[in-house]
This record gives sequence, structure tokens and C-alpha cells, in this order.
Amino acid sequence: MKFANVFVAVIIGATLITLVVMINSFRPAVVTKQPSPEFVRATGKCAECHSRTQYSIVHEFELSVHAEKNVNCLDCHSAQQGQSAQEHYGFEINPHVTAANCRSCHEQEYQQFLRSRHAAPSWAAVSGARDFTAEQIAHAEKFHPGAVDRPPNALAALEGEAAIASGCASCHSVGKPNADGTIGTCTACHTRHTSSVEVARLPSTCGQCHMGPDHSQIEIYTESKHGVMFHAQRDQLNLSAPPNELTTRDMFVPTCATCHMSGLNGMAVTHDPSDRLGYYLFAEITEERPGAARAREEMKAVCMHCHTETIVNRVYEQGDAVVEATNKKIAAVRATMEALRAEGLIVGEPFTNPIEFEYFDLWHYYGRTAKHGAFMGGADFVQWHGNYPILEHAVRIEDEAKKLRSEHAAPDQ
Ligand code: HEC
Ligand code: HEC
Ligand code: HEC
Ligand code: HEC
Ligand code: HEC
Ligand code: HEC
Ligand code: HEC
Ligand code: HEC
Repeated sequence: MKFANVFVAVIIGATLITLVVMINSFRPAVVTKQPSPEFVRATGKCAECHSRTQYSIVHEFELSVHAEKNVNCLDCHSAQQGQSAQEHYGFEINPHVTAANCRSCHEQEYQQFLRSRHAAPSWAAVSGARDFTAEQIAHAEKFHPGAVDRPPNALAALEGEAAIASGCASCHSVGKPNADGTIGTCTACHTRHTSSVEVARLPSTCGQCHMGPDHSQIEIYTESKHGVMFHAQRDQLNLSAPPNELTTRDMFVPTCATCHMSGLNGMAVTHDPSDRLGYYLFAEITEERPGAARAREEMKAVCMHCHTETIVNRVYEQGDAVVEATNKKIAAVRATMEALRAEGLIVGEPFTNPIEFEYFDLWHYYGRTAKHGAFMGGADFVQWHGNYPILEHAVRIEDEAKKLRSEHAAPDQ
């Protein structure tokens, strides 16, 4: 063989190899990296097509632990009981993935979620019991008496369907019943294709819903020492540590999930964030929950993985005092409101008199905010977004009551 021929053959060979490598590099990683033939067939075909039109979705999936563990597109997109499949480019798919699909592999998380206030109570807070089956109502009522078997929210009804759909429902649909008989949306915290604990552990994930004047948790957290430290040291935290191995070496600064859900240093993970709560802080007048003592011990146990008892007890003692004082302030104004109704000076449906808004803001914004701020390190929220407007609104309402009474007492001429 002549040298020139060998040379040409080597060039052609090298070019072919380069071409194959180049073509391969344009194919999604899910196609090239996955070993299982079943995975390559299903996910490869879906990914090849969809990465052309929805690169972002396929890429998010590629970043997931699911992709790493050979969970494929069809594992989520095939029909479970109660769902219908449709023909889709040679596959049978279910486009509407719900908790039913996640549940097929994560039953334990589903059951914990199902007994939480993120499930049925969330949706019932807006729409009442009407969208649930009798069985679903009975199940949820066992854990949260009165939280599901109730009428639709009066304020939502006044605001109307369009406001409910883009407003209330965007947050409260985390617990909306699905047509397949399951409840809720796991992807509210895990996202649809990343399915990640890292995303679920970010304060901003909870803050999508836990924000604003009536539940300022993200704002409180951001100004707390914990929030400040999180933002300063985020890069040093191991946010993707597997939950059953999570320690304070990974998360030495807490996020919402750490205190309310995580299994820190061997504690059990919970998908029911009520497990560690002692009070109904969101209520007009705050009372202890059933099992408050156990719940408080559990939350304190989380704190104590990072703190000494002294600092933790101080926070709880000060929090208890704010709850008690706020209850007293609100009860006094509530008595005035009830008296005005009894005297016939406030009449008609709820939310039809200006003074009712003053009172609603008093407990629903400022009362809650003061209590939440006290337990989660938000001094500004206890004070300027809490107690100051409580005082201001109390003075206004008492003044308004005086005026209503004197107008009413004036003889008709
Ligand atoms: C040959 C290309 C092709 C393949 C292969 C393919 N898809 Fe699609 N897919 C599309 C197109 C185009 C659309 C949007 C229009 C439509 O619904 O047909 C779509 C839409 C979808 C939707 C949204 C449907 C809706 O109603 O909102 C889902 C979910 C989906 N595909 C999942 C998959 C899964 C899972 C696979 C693999 C089992 C797959 N696709 C395979 C081309 C493809
Ligand atoms: C962990 C479960 C899971 C896996 C795995 C999964 N999906 Fe999905 N997918 C979902 C969920 C949840 C939705 C949202 C469904 C809905 O809103 O009704 C969705 C929606 C979609 C949509 C419509 C998205 C849009 O924004 O319009 C497409 C397309 C899609 N998936 C394609 C894929 C492809 C391709 C794969 C594999 C590469 C895949 N999915 C793997 C859970 C999954
Ligand atoms: C076919 C089974 C299957 C389905 C369906 C499924 N998963 Fe998974 N999931 C797994 C496996 C396997 C793992 C890896 C577990 C491990 O390594 O311990 C996992 C891990 C996870 C993790 C932990 C990820 C991490 O960052 O450590 C989350 C969160 C998760 N899944 C959420 C979901 C959600 C939400 C859905 C539905 C949209 C879903 N899964 C559907 C099998 C599944
Ligand atoms: C930005 C997200 C968001 C929107 C929008 C929203 N909520 Fe909420 N809602 C929440 C969160 C988060 C809580 C839990 C607050 C807490 O425990 O401190 C909550 C709590 C509640 C509660 C008290 C808990 C209960 O079960 O009784 C009611 C009632 C309620 N919301 C009704 C509504 C209604 C009605 C609307 C629309 C008019 C609405 N919400 C709009 C996020 C939202
Ligand atoms: C309110 C937000 C939220 C919702 C809703 C939610 N999760 Fe999670 N999930 C989390 C957090 C936070 C973690 C990580 C806990 C930790 O830090 O240890 C987690 C962890 C997980 C894990 C890993 C558990 C382990 O022990 O390895 C799985 C699997 C999972 N979730 C599945 C689900 C499923 C299925 C649903 C729906 C039924 C769901 N999640 C709904 C926040 C949520
Ligand atoms: C999609 C919106 C949404 C997201 C995301 C969300 N929540 Fe919630 N959360 C709600 C709603 C709505 C309620 C009120 C449920 C009710 O009582 O009616 C609630 C209630 C709670 C409660 C109070 C439960 C009780 O018993 O009073 C805690 C604690 C909580 N969420 C923690 C979290 C944490 C931690 C995260 C993030 C890991 C998170 N939530 C993410 C919507 C959300
Ligand atoms: C350092 C731990 C810690 C962190 C971080 C934390 N919380 Fe809390 N949270 C608490 C404590 C303690 C309470 C009050 C417990 C009780 O009632 O006994 C509480 C109360 C709540 C409540 C009130 C439920 C009710 O009764 O109204 C909600 C909702 C909540 N937290 C959500 C969040 C969210 C969302 C974040 C992140 C933005 C967050 N928390 C961050 C410790 C924490
Ligand atoms: C994962 C670890 C972790 C957990 C869990 C945790 N904290 Fe912290 N906390 C920190 C760190 C780190 C700081 C800043 C410490 C420092 O500067 O020495 C801090 C600071 C504080 C401070 C401010 C101290 C000051 O005056 O500067 C208070 C108060 C506090 N935490 C209370 C709590 C309470 C109450 C809980 C439980 C409800 C809790 N923490 C849970 C890590 C944690």
C-alpha cells in the first residue's frame, strides 16, 4: 500500500470519528448517557423530539436525580388508575401528570402530604368542601377538624371567579383534587422535571405562596439572622444532600424546609409541615393545637441541632408572650365589633361595611404578622408591620364605633 493511500484512509477515518462525536454532542445527554435499553427507547425518542422544540424541559429532566436513576419520561407520563392515555407518536401517554403518578413510586410521601394542610384544607380554604368526595372529606377531617367540611370562602365569592382562578387558586391549588381521585400537586415544591430536593429546600420556593401581608413568612425569614446567613453562605451549603443523610454539616443555616420538614441529623423527614407546630397562629384568636406539647418539642429539637437551650427557650417564651398579648388586643376589638352587630349598627353580609375591613386587616394582616414575626426572627414584623398598625386600627375602630353610636342615638327630626 502506498503511503498516500494510508494517509488518505487515516484522514477519512479521523473525519468520520470527529463527525460521529460532533453529531453525538448535539444529541441530548439522556440519549447518549443512559445505559438501560428500555430507557434509551422511551426517553431517547421523547427527548430527541422534544429537545428540538422544548429544549428547556428535556434539559431540566437531564439535571434530575430521576434521569440519573433511570426513571424515564414514560414512568411519569403513562396513565395510572383513573387517568386516560392518548396515542402520541407511537407511544401511549398521559399529558396531565398529577400526584397519582408520583405516588406510584413515592407512596409514603404521598400519604404524609395527604394528611397535611397543603392537601385538602388548602383547597377547601377557598372553595369549601364541594369539590371533594365524602371519603376525602372524612380522611382530612380526621387530621384537621373543620378545615375541609366548610362553606366556600366569603371573600373569594365576592371577588369572583376570574380573581379566584389567577389569585387564590394559584397558591391554594397545591391541594386541589385531581380528576383521577388523588389530591394535590407535588410539583409545587419539586418542579415538574427537576424533581429536586434542592429546589424544595430553597426559601424562595416556599416564598412563592408564603408571602404578602397576611402570611409574610418569606419577608420575615429574609430579614431574620437565618435569612441573612443563608444568603451570605448559600454556596457553602450542600442543598442537594439526600434527605436520609442530611446533617448540620450540609445545612448549617436553616431554610423553611429545615425547620418545618427536613430530617436533620437523623430526624424523620415529614411532608406534613403541621407536625412541628404548637399554635394556630393564622387564626383570629390563636389557640394551641391538639398535641401542642409534642409538636413544640419536635421543633425545638430541630433548633437544638444548632443552638443551646437558652436561646431556643428565649425565642419560645417571647413568642408565647406575643401570642398572649396579641390575643388580648384582638379580643378587645372583636368585642366592640360584636356589640355593634348586636346593636344593629353593622348590618348585612360580611365585607359590606368599611369598618369590617379595618377589623379584618387588624387580625388577618397585623395580628398574624406580629405572631409569625415573633417565632421566626422578624423584629420589624412584630413591631412596624404588626403591633403599630394593630394599635392604629384599634383606635380607628373604637373611634368609628363611637361615631356610629352617637349618630344612631341622635333623635330623628
Ligand atoms: C416525533 C416527535 C415526538 C415524539 C417522539 C414525542 N413527542 Fe411529545 N409532543 C410532540 C409535539 C409536536 C407536541 C405538541 C403537539 C401535540 O400535542 O401533538 C408534543 C406534546 C407533548 C406533551 C404535551 C401534550 C399536551 O396536551 O399538553 C407531552 C406531555 C409530551 N409530548 C410528552 C411526550 C413523551 C413522554 C414522549 C415519549 C414517550 C413524547 N412526547 C414523544 C412531539 C413528539
Ligand atoms: C417526574 C415526572 C416526570 C418525568 C420523568 C417527565 N415529566 Fe414531563 N411533565 C411532568 C409533569 C408533572 C408535567 C405537567 C403536567 C400538567 O401540568 O398537566 C409535565 C409536562 C410535560 C410537557 C408539557 C410541558 C409544557 O410546559 O408545555 C412535556 C412536553 C413533557 N412533560 C415532556 C417530557 C419529556 C420529553 C420527558 C422525558 C425527557 C418528561 N416529560 C419526563 C412530569 C414528568
Ligand atoms: C417510576 C418511579 C418514579 C416516579 C413515577 C417518580 N419518581 Fe421520584 N424518584 C424515583 C427514584 C427511583 C428516585 C431516586 C431515589 C433514591 O435514589 O433514593 C426518586 C427521587 C425523587 C426525589 C429526590 C430527588 C433528590 O434530589 O434527591 C424527589 C423529590 C422525587 N423523586 C419526586 C418525584 C415527583 C414529584 C414525582 C412525580 C411528578 C416523582 N418523583 C415520580 C422514582 C420515581
Ligand atoms: C400568594 C399565595 C396565596 C394567595 C394568592 C391566597 N392565599 Fe390563602 N393562604 C396562603 C398561605 C401560604 C396560607 C397559610 C398561611 C399561614 O398558615 O400562615 C394561606 C391561608 C389561607 C387561609 C387560612 C387557612 C385556612 O385553611 O383557613 C384562608 C381561609 C385562605 N388562605 C383563603 C384564601 C382566599 C379565599 C384567597 C383568595 C381570595 C387566598 N387565600 C389567596 C397563600 C395564598
Ligand atoms: C411544600 C413543599 C413540598 C411538597 C408539596 C412536596 N414536597 Fe417532597 N419534599 C419537600 C422537601 C422540602 C423535601 C426535602 C426534605 C429534606 O430537606 O430532608 C422533600 C423530599 C421529597 C422526597 C425525597 C425523600 C427522601 O426521603 O429521600 C421525595 C421522594 C418527595 N419529596 C416526593 C414528594 C411527593 C411524591 C410529593 C407529592 C405527594 C411531594 N414530595 C410534595 C417539599 C415538598
Ligand atoms: C403552592 C403554594 C405553596 C407552596 C409552594 C408552599 N406552601 Fe405552605 N401552605 C400553602 C397554603 C395554601 C397553606 C394553607 C393551608 C391551609 O391551612 O388552608 C400552607 C400552609 C403551610 C403551613 C402551615 C400548616 C398549618 O398546619 O397551619 C406551613 C408550616 C407551610 N405551609 C410550610 C411550607 C414550606 C416549608 C414550604 C416550602 C418547602 C411551603 N409551605 C410551600 C401554600 C404553599
Ligand atoms: C428557624 C426555624 C424556622 C424557619 C427557618 C422558618 N420557620 Fe416557620 N415557624 C417556625 C416556628 C418556631 C413557628 C411557630 C411554631 C408554633 O406554632 O409552635 C413557625 C410558624 C410558621 C407558620 C405558621 C403556621 C400557623 O400556625 O399560622 C408558617 C406558615 C411557617 N412557619 C412557614 C415558614 C416559611 C414559609 C418559612 C421560610 C420562608 C419559614 N416558616 C421559616 C420556625 C421556622
Ligand atoms: C441548621 C442550623 C440552625 C437551626 C436548625 C436553627 N438555627 Fe438559629 N441560627 C443558626 C445560625 C448559623 C445562626 C447565626 C449564629 C451565629 O452568628 O452565631 C442562628 C441565629 C439564630 C438567632 C439569632 C441570634 C442572634 O442574636 O444573633 C436566633 C434567635 C435563633 N437562631 C433561633 C433559632 C430557633 C428558635 C430555631 C428553631 C425554631 C433555630 N434558630 C434553628 C442556625 C440554626
